[in-house]
Amino acid sequence: MTNTADCWTRLEQAERETLKALFAADDGRVGRYSGTLAPGDGDILFDWSKTHLSDELVAGFEALAQAAGFDAAREVMLSGDMANPTEGRAAEHTAQRGIGADESVAEADAFHMRMRGLVEAIHDGVFGQIRHLIHIGIGGSALGPALAINALARPTAEWRAPVDVHVVSNIDGNALEAAFEACDPATTMIAVASKTFTTIETMTNAASAVQWLEESGVSDPYGKVVALTASPDKAVEWGIDETRVLPFSESVGGRYSLWSSIGFPVAMAIGWDGFAAFLDGAAAVDRHFADTDGFANLPLRAAFADLMYVQLRGCQTRAVFAYDERLGLFPDYLQQLEMESNGKSVTADGKPLGRQSAPITWGGVGTDAQHAVFQLLHQGTIEVPVDFIAVKQPGHDLDPAHHAILLTNCFAQGAALMAGKENDDAARAYPGNRPSATILCDAMTPATLGALIAFHEHRTFANAVLLGINPFDQFGVELGKQIANQIAAGEGDGFDPGTEALLAAAGLKD
Ligand code: F6P
Repeated sequence: MTNTADCWTRLEQAERETLKALFAADDGRVGRYSGTLAPGDGDILFDWSKTHLSDELVAGFEALAQAAGFDAAREVMLSGDMANPTEGRAAEHTAQRGIGADESVAEADAFHMRMRGLVEAIHDGVFGQIRHLIHIGIGGSALGPALAINALARPTAEWRAPVDVHVVSNIDGNALEAAFEACDPATTMIAVASKTFTTIETMTNAASAVQWLEESGVSDPYGKVVALTASPDKAVEWGIDETRVLPFSESVGGRYSLWSSIGFPVAMAIGWDGFAAFLDGAAAVDRHFADTDGFANLPLRAAFADLMYVQLRGCQTRAVFAYDERLGLFPDYLQQLEMESNGKSVTADGKPLGRQSAPITWGGVGTDAQHAVFQLLHQGTIEVPVDFIAVKQPGHDLDPAHHAILLTNCFAQGAALMAGKENDDAARAYPGNRPSATILCDAMTPATLGALIAFHEHRTFANAVLLGINPFDQFGVELGKQIANQIAAGEGDGFDPGTEALLAAAGLKD
């Protein structure tokens, strides 16, 4: 069996063809480089035809996947074995969706039932009339809920969420004050979401939220607080009654935790059946990922393209544009998923990576971004692979022209990036041959959103396996936290002169 180094050499030597040449040589390219998943109540089309993947490169990446032990690594993760060796644990987010070790799936089911009980009790008025929920968390404890609520809980002519959710993450008090402003304390509950229940931003915000309830005349403020955590003892110690602590397993990573009790605000907003459909949509992608080999495996195929751009074509970023307001937070969500998972310079066994790690994920919303950053995509000197995400059915009742213009622009951008246009005036010429992939969803439903997120989780995992990275730890975030804690404790003299001067200028140190 060849090793991964030989596979990379083979990939580096493969023919580099232009997008136009790839299409010209194969009139079946669109069909062969596209695939569809049906996670429930609508299809999702994944069109990777406008990437520079060729059959030769795909064969090379399939060989790399084999040499990197992709099938075995996938089995380790999906069966609940030790997928996260540096932290000595499994990575069991799929168990939340019913795919994993039997005991982990059973535990996740039991925790979900507990969560459902509390959601339904609140909806039934057991805690009095509840109209607002302030969800406090940060990173993986906030980005997923914010994305899902923004996508799925928008009011329509016929429907309005029973509870409006405000996600607060930043320690900057302006964020929490804005939520207070929007809520009536008499009808508000607070969810404190923290896997560790130690994160300083979250715990500080949570304390201020309880104080706000108290100062507003709520008689039992702690009685209005729910904890979402893998550290239930700490939540009880903090003052939350055990009946309102919704646990999840330590083996569910923070940025993979939306499926667990961290999804509580989503269930509060869209109801339990919606949340269950969200889990089922993800499970459909899990089954595809588990049962499909090689290029036909859509998350793995996407990873082939990702690696081609970073490792073979020197791209340092990848951009994601959601041509749908409902998915406006998708790029933010992906930034944590991809950069916190694969922004590493050592392999899982601690050796230097020896090649580039994950690229920088960035993006925005179309068509807004067209009028702001697309200039660089079309004419800049840096190649940026772009993903477009669009939804066929609009989420509003306005003139259908809105949605037609939105989708037309999305597809026009992909076409323009690829085709380019000659012009005798160099300033007006477009080089073309610029890559994009398009994900087109039939409708924005809980199942579709679950599937979209699960697709990206598995794409991130596949990238990691082919690079030899452990995507489930995040030691890189610790040093800055330690230094902040030292400063707060008045310890740690002797920072660099620049930092000392800033601390003094802000009045944080003499
Ligand atoms: O600092 C990074 C991080 O640990 C993320 O991985 C995590 O999602 C976030 O902080 C929040 O952590 P917690 O849920 O434990 O408060």
